[in-house]
Amino acid sequence: MLLFFPEAHQTSLPVAYTNSRQSSISGRSFYTQWQLPTTGRRHVSRYLFYLSCVTKTSTAWRSKPIKQEVVYDDQLAVNKAVTKLTNLPPLVTAHEIWKLRASLRDVALGKSFLLQGGDCAELFSYCNAGSIDSKTKLLLQMSLVLIYGANKPVVRIARMAGQYAKPRSSPMESQPDGTKIPSFRGDILNGFPAEERAIDPGRLVEAYFHSAATLNYLRAQLASGVADLHNPLDWNLGHVADPDLAERYHKIVDSIAESLRFMRTIGADTAGQLQTVDLYTSHEGLLLEYESAMTRQLQHPRNKFTACAGAAPVVNNSDSEDDEDESGHYNTSAHFLWVGDRTRQPDHAHIEYFRGIVNPIGIKVGPTTSVTDLCELLDVVNPDKEIGKVTLITRYGQDKVSDLLPTHIKAVRESGHIVVWQCDPMHGNTRSTATGIKTRSFSAVFNELEASLRIHRALGSILGGVHLELTGDAVTECTGGSVGLEDEDLGSRYETFCDPRLNEKQALELAFLIAGFQRKGRSSVAV
Ligand code: PEP
Ligand code: CO
Repeated sequence: MLLFFPEAHQTSLPVAYTNSRQSSISGRSFYTQWQLPTTGRRHVSRYLFYLSCVTKTSTAWRSKPIKQEVVYDDQLAVNKAVTKLTNLPPLVTAHEIWKLRASLRDVALGKSFLLQGGDCAELFSYCNAGSIDSKTKLLLQMSLVLIYGANKPVVRIARMAGQYAKPRSSPMESQPDGTKIPSFRGDILNGFPAEERAIDPGRLVEAYFHSAATLNYLRAQLASGVADLHNPLDWNLGHVADPDLAERYHKIVDSIAESLRFMRTIGADTAGQLQTVDLYTSHEGLLLEYESAMTRQLQHPRNKFTACAGAAPVVNNSDSEDDEDESGHYNTSAHFLWVGDRTRQPDHAHIEYFRGIVNPIGIKVGPTTSVTDLCELLDVVNPDKEIGKVTLITRYGQDKVSDLLPTHIKAVRESGHIVVWQCDPMHGNTRSTATGIKTRSFSAVFNELEASLRIHRALGSILGGVHLELTGDAVTECTGGSVGLEDEDLGSRYETFCDPRLNEKQALELAFLIAGFQRKGRSSVAV
């Protein structure tokens, strides 16, 4: 217990446990502001409440060691940015966060499937109508294919409207002339051009406004019917040269179109479900200055959802005003946040922050994740073992998945946690071409995904979803797929500033392949 309540050894108890918390962004100076209290049981219980709050709020992480640390030269400018962020309105609401939690519970229980995707590093310049529209359309189309394949609802989460911070393997990067400059750490900290590599705290606030503009456009488009399934979708399958493959894909598209026509004919499309869809936002919770500034203690909604698919919300009729039960700490910058492979140490700052938020969270799990760490992590971030609160995003690589995934599945089962298992077949399959271009092969991506589906099925577990780096544009960053991109073709439209993404056609093709696998598993009729 002490491990996670480092201040518990202090013998002096605080009297004022509320007001001065906001006045300092430094956890250490915050802790020294408390004075000796009068004694008595009321204070002891209040102190325990205080401890449970501060260790879970936006400041406690500062007392822990941190990976991917950012050293700011201008602390005053950071303080200014954080104060500004603290006062700006939330980007997402507690109600939406609970709705997603309910949906992810369904995913964990095998009642829904989860599709999560978007850029590796979102740039501020991607905040434009074309880029947002093409990703939204792609995620929508993929989700239809996956509904067809899995025969269950699909929960959609975009890596969008905030994916601006990137973990790096080295803080410095070599230039072609041998000089070294700071690495690009994402638009939230510095710019990609060599002359913009200094950390600029003003970018923290810029990140907020780019997230807000992206989300505003996304919400407006969805509300205006961009996802209205009455509109015919352009499936654009002309690139599939293999006639067998083309026939299989056309069969899936025809079947989706037929189902939509059927619903229209019987009038089942009038209840509003076909006019729009839910699309949640997510990003890696890497930059804790930003994440903690966007964290608010909010009242829990009176209507918490128990399950998304059609279930009525549960109404909380309690009139209690006790903060402990009625409110919680919400990260209001996105619905879903995940902790990366490099920052998930159980006793470090990121996990200290993550364990205190109400949002559903993801944890990347890779070849270096020990079984002990994995189980400890789950206990720390989800002590009440809430179903679907945690998504384990596995990313081993096609060569390692068969060795490592079964052990992790068995360990989690024994721990009693019921998680969402999600496969990220991208981050373990990055390779360099002979000329040094960072790429991923479509076949490696699919191999890891297929192996994960197979292993979960064989162990009676559920692969609940996929996590992909993709873009709606016709970039040439990953090789293979029906477009038949070779290493030599990558130069024609290689645009990523971080990891290579599947383009529109490759991403859709992956959805077709997953759907084919899922349908084969359910019946002997292959698509
Ligand atoms: C990412 O998802 O962009 C990422 C950096 O992944 P990981 O933490 O798994 O390496
Ligand atoms: Co990436």
